[in-house]
Amino acid sequence: MSRILITSAIPYINGIKHLGNLVGSQLPADLYARYMRGRGHEVMFICATDEHGTPAELAAAKAGRPVADYCAEMWQVQSDLAKGFRLSFDHFGRSSSARNRALTQHFAKRLAENGFIEEVSETQVFSVADDRFLPDRYIEGTCPNCGYDKARGDQCENCTKQLDPTDLINPRSAISGSTDLEVRETKHLYLRQKALKGEISAWIDSKTDWPVLTTSIAKKWLNDGEGLQDRGITRDLAWGVPVQFDGAPWTGMDGKVFYVWFDAPIEYIAATAEWADARKEQETAWERWWRTDKGAEDVRYVQFMGKDNVPFHTLSFPATIMGSREPWKLVDYIKSFNYLNYDGGQFSTSQGRGVFMDQALSILPADYWRWWLLSHAPESSDSEFTWENFQVSVNKDLADVLGNFVSRITKFCRSKYGEAIPAGGVLDDRALALVADLESRVRAYEGHMEAMEIRKAATELRGIWAAGNEYLQSAAPWTVHKTDPEAAAAMVRLGLNLIRLYAVLSEPFIPDASAKMLAALQTGEKSWPGPVATALSVLEPGHGFETPEVLFAKISDEEREEWAKRFSGVRT
Ligand code: 2FM
Ligand code: ZN
Repeated sequence: MSRILITSAIPYINGIKHLGNLVGSQLPADLYARYMRGRGHEVMFICATDEHGTPAELAAAKAGRPVADYCAEMWQVQSDLAKGFRLSFDHFGRSSSARNRALTQHFAKRLAENGFIEEVSETQVFSVADDRFLPDRYIEGTCPNCGYDKARGDQCENCTKQLDPTDLINPRSAISGSTDLEVRETKHLYLRQKALKGEISAWIDSKTDWPVLTTSIAKKWLNDGEGLQDRGITRDLAWGVPVQFDGAPWTGMDGKVFYVWFDAPIEYIAATAEWADARKEQETAWERWWRTDKGAEDVRYVQFMGKDNVPFHTLSFPATIMGSREPWKLVDYIKSFNYLNYDGGQFSTSQGRGVFMDQALSILPADYWRWWLLSHAPESSDSEFTWENFQVSVNKDLADVLGNFVSRITKFCRSKYGEAIPAGGVLDDRALALVADLESRVRAYEGHMEAMEIRKAATELRGIWAAGNEYLQSAAPWTVHKTDPEAAAAMVRLGLNLIRLYAVLSEPFIPDASAKMLAALQTGEKSWPGPVATALSVLEPGHGFETPEVLFAKISDEEREEWAKRFSGVRT
């Protein structure tokens, strides 16, 4: 038994996430956590909300709420949706927690003591009307390159030119529209990442087993053009972790907070401490996951995230940890994802385009979405959600193959033998061939799950379901029963045992259906299968069962069309 620490990128607090966000980190992390628990390992699965920064402040202002209240409410919304999708976090924390505040300040202090923090004076745009400094993207104006009048201070959306706020013609605040802007001097803390470049580079080079997507992005940022730059880790904002040193103000840093990307990954650690606090555990309970001097040297730490998050997790967060010169656990493996597109375009939070988590659950239960999203995870390239494809996958894989198998075998048994595993007969050659086929398929499935090859694992699982269906089709116990009820009984017994095996194997993908199958079979025996032959004789003759309701309803053409129409526009 091993100990496995799993973190999912922590979603921003401002607004409900879309399915593209979900499949890019939380859902695959959940798949892996469930699988590893199923294999009997000790798992700590952590997620949280990413609550600081300007977008949270502005979303709260828009909602007319104090930012702390807004965050508390949105945390609850996101937490409930996570439960709705059956995301099995051990703890769903908040980056605004006292734990994260203390740890973030602790890391900054250690970095400063070790010479990795530098104070830099710079000029920044201040909006007098808003009484605040404006981050580049909150300054709007006319693009000097193409004349587009809503160009942002960091980039023109229209011609994609990278801009400096001072390049804009007629600049104004994107918050209030005010043109009363001044350039003021302000001081910030910089993390001296360049000084850690050699260490970070050697560390990344040592990760020879990482997926290409992860290492290619990491190396591009490390070596390309500008390379690894020193990075400002403070902001002139009110909402965030205050810049303090041992609880006392950091000279010259009054009223400033740490940059949201500095404190967000530290929340992985803090959320584990929050987990211990919620259980009234000792410090050692969370430290054994994170401190290599306190037991974490045996932990395998795996992170899940979308590709846009890779630079922060391969360079910046490791720089924070390494620069602390303390024995914190560094990540062992980073599984990253491309993007999921929506019906010929991109999912977009700002434009409200696509299907959002609450909307998805309002039309179908979690398993339908989990299956489609995971079996189409954007691993080697971007992938696309279309309603046609969704309908086909659900109807074929879940309803025709798995659902139909469960329903046919339980109903047939009930009608001919009653609701108990029938006795008699022995496995014939066809049955033995199925067992042998499943033996190699189950071992292949395990291999893909270990390797986090999610699409391959889904394909193998589908193959495992299909093999049972094909067996049933060709063995035809309903025909055999007419002449040889004992032989048919052996087939049915095998089929009912297969349902149990499917429930165990499928749990990481479709946990609700798995629970229904086990409940129908009136068994709590869900330990991971060793040899398939053994796993298929767990339910013995005489063991009672119930014929379950339909596991998966098919999606009709009318439903598909209605949903496609309903979700074709922009969410307001
Ligand atoms: O991209 C995002 O949604 C960020 N909120 C992810 C942060 S992950 C980490 F650093 F905590
Ligand atoms: Zn432009």
